[in-house]
Amino acid sequence: MDKKIIIAIDGPSASGKGTLGRNLAKKLGYDYMDTGALYRLIAKTMIDKGIDEKDTDKIIELATNIKNSFNISQLSNPELKTDTVGILTSKISVIPEVRNILTDIQSNFANHNTAKGAILDGRDIGTVICPHADIKLFITATTETRAARRTKELNEKNISASYEDVLKEMQERDKRDANRDISPMKPAHDAYIINTSYIDENEVMKKVLAVIGNKLSKI
Ligand code: C5P
Repeated sequence: MDKKIIIAIDGPSASGKGTLGRNLAKKLGYDYMDTGALYRLIAKTMIDKGIDEKDTDKIIELATNIKNSFNISQLSNPELKTDTVGILTSKISVIPEVRNILTDIQSNFANHNTAKGAILDGRDIGTVICPHADIKLFITATTETRAARRTKELNEKNISASYEDVLKEMQERDKRDANRDISPMKPAHDAYIINTSYIDENEVMKKVLAVIGNKLSKI
């Protein structure tokens, strides 16, 4: 049987990593997991059930229940994508037990998928979840660019949001994600870093396909 390829994509929010992951999965016929949506599923369910962000025991119990009944289709719910869910998500994703529980789901997906390969995007895929990934990418852009993209995206959905508020929330979230003790957001030492501030998604795809072609020719 051919070797299954694992592609790890990490980076901050609105860097373009999700668009890249989805498009790449389609192009290569690989399975795709948006691991941010997995963390968001916990935060969204907490909001629905009225669980307080300080009630760590309840949050761990919830994460365990989610793991036991997990189905990947749950990650497609557009309600996971709101900024309210995103902010709570970055607070509960510092809880080590929650990360351990979600690590099992992600590793299982990466190592036991039925497609030719798997693509996972998140914050710690190349460093913690799949340190042996065949290809590691870190997708980034300036905070200002990412905040402008996010504001436009929200306004297009008729959600009122000011650039200043989005920028401030993004800076706080990045700081929390990059500075937490456990699995902080950072490029793996062997990641290929792409700054998407001044290039569009087609150019990003071109660069990434070149990196993949080069790496896979050596496997
Ligand atoms: O990528 P997205 O914005 O959906 O992620 C939401 C939050 O989930 C991040 O701000 C981060 O706190 C957390 N997360 C994480 N590890 C991952 C993916 C997401 O801690 N692998």
